Amino acid sequence: MDNLAIYFATETGNAETLANQTHERALATGRADATVQSIAKLTPEDLAAHKLAVFVVSTWGDGEPPSDATDFYYGLEKQTGLDLSGVTYAVFGLGDRDYADFNAFARNLDEQLAARGARRLLDRAEADLDFDDTYAAWADRLFAALESAPAVTTS
Ligand SMILES: Cc1cc2nc3c(=O)[nH]c(=O)nc-3n(C[C@H](O)[C@H](O)[C@H](O)COP(=O)(O)O)c2cc1C
Repeated sequence: MDNLAIYFATETGNAETLANQTHERALATGRADATVQSIAKLTPEDLAAHKLAVFVVSTWGDGEPPSDATDFYYGLEKQTGLDLSGVTYAVFGLGDRDYADFNAFARNLDEQLAARGARRLLDRAEADLDFDDTYAAWADRLFAALESAPAVTTS
């Protein structure tokens, strides 16, 4: 799959809102095949077939994935031999600095993907509750990096 696939992991909708904004910007910048979906629709095996994946994820509990991400994430953790070397990805994390495990799920997801050979398109961002400025700066970096990433093929 050549398209840009955006996945959100959310409990109360913040990550979904930012994922949708990312999707709109992708469409507006010529990535007509970009998609946005809940991470609940993704399996680790499906991810291996992606070229470009963006994850917008919050952290819940004590540093845990939101409930829509548990199947994907704990499945990924078990698949230590999964080859993700064909995948280029980016992670944006949402959290709250008042929690001891600030942005732990974004960090753990990033590390698990990298451990299976996936390539970071840009460094992970870790946003606090006032996430607007952190998101805007990350989105600018993301779209600048995408300029040199694999192009979308629509034919
Ligand atoms: C019960 C609860 C547990 C949370 N646990 C964490 C945590 O462990 N680490 C963290 O960085 N943020 C934590 N947060 C903050 C959320 O990640 C933050 O509010 C985020 O913006 C929620 O995004 P969402 O609406 O996409 O789920 C927690 C929030 C709540 C209400």
